Amino acid sequence: MDSLKLLSSPKIFWHKSVVKKQDREIALGQKGCVIWLTGLSGSGKSTLACKLDQALLSRNKLSYVLDGDNLRHGLNKNLDFSVKDRAENIRRVGEVAKLFADAGLICITSFISPYRNDRNLCRKLLPPGDFIEEVYLKVPLSICEKRDPKGLYKLARAGKIKGFTGIDDPYEEPYDCEITMGVENGTPEEMATTVITFLDGRGYLA
Ligand code: PPS
Repeated sequence: MDSLKLLSSPKIFWHKSVVKKQDREIALGQKGCVIWLTGLSGSGKSTLACKLDQALLSRNKLSYVLDGDNLRHGLNKNLDFSVKDRAENIRRVGEVAKLFADAGLICITSFISPYRNDRNLCRKLLPPGDFIEEVYLKVPLSICEKRDPKGLYKLARAGKIKGFTGIDDPYEEPYDCEITMGVENGTPEEMATTVITFLDGRGYLA
C-alpha cells in the first residue's frame, strides 16, 4: 500500500514507478530535461529544434521534439487558437514533456506558447531542475512575416485567419528566460551549439 498515494479523487491512486528516474539516467548517460522553445510563427523554432535533435543524436544523446503543428494533428487536434485552447494545448505539452523528462529523454518543445502564464505553469509543473531552459527566439515580426514559410501571415493580413499571433493576437515576451537568441546569433547550427553548450555546462549530457 505504500506505493499508492491517495490523490484528490478517492478512486484514483498514484502508482509509483519501481525504476527511478536516476536509474534510467545512469543507464542512458544523460539527464532527462525539457528545453522549451518559444517565439512567433516563422521565428525558427522548428528549425532549431531539428538541429538540436540532430546534434544531440550525433553525441549519442536521446532527445525528442514535440512540435506545435504535429501535436495539433493528433493529441491536440480538438484545440483551436483561442486563449483557452492555447492554454490547454500548452498544459498538455507540459504534461507530456514531464513524462519524457521522467523517462530520461531530453525533450525539446517547439510551440509559439504566446502566454507567459502558460509557459510558467509548465515550468512549475516539472520537478526542479527538469525545465532547464526557456529559449526565446526573438525575431521581429517584420522578419517572420517576410519569411512566411506557410503563407499564414499573408492569410492573416488578408483577414482570412483570425487571431493570428503577432497580427491580431498577442505574444508575451519572456521576462526571465534562460536564453534569448535572434538572427544576430548566427545560423540555426550555431544556435544549437549555444544551447548544447548550456546543457553541457550544467552537466545534463554527462
Ligand atoms: S500555441 O499558440 O502555442 O498554442 O500554437 P502552436 O501549438 O505552437 O501552433 C502554432 C502553429 O499553428 C499554425 N497556426 C497558427 N499560429 C498562430 N496563430 C494562429 N491563429 C494559427 N493558426 C494556425 C502555425 O503554423 C504555427 O506554426 P509555427 O511552427 O509556429 O509557424
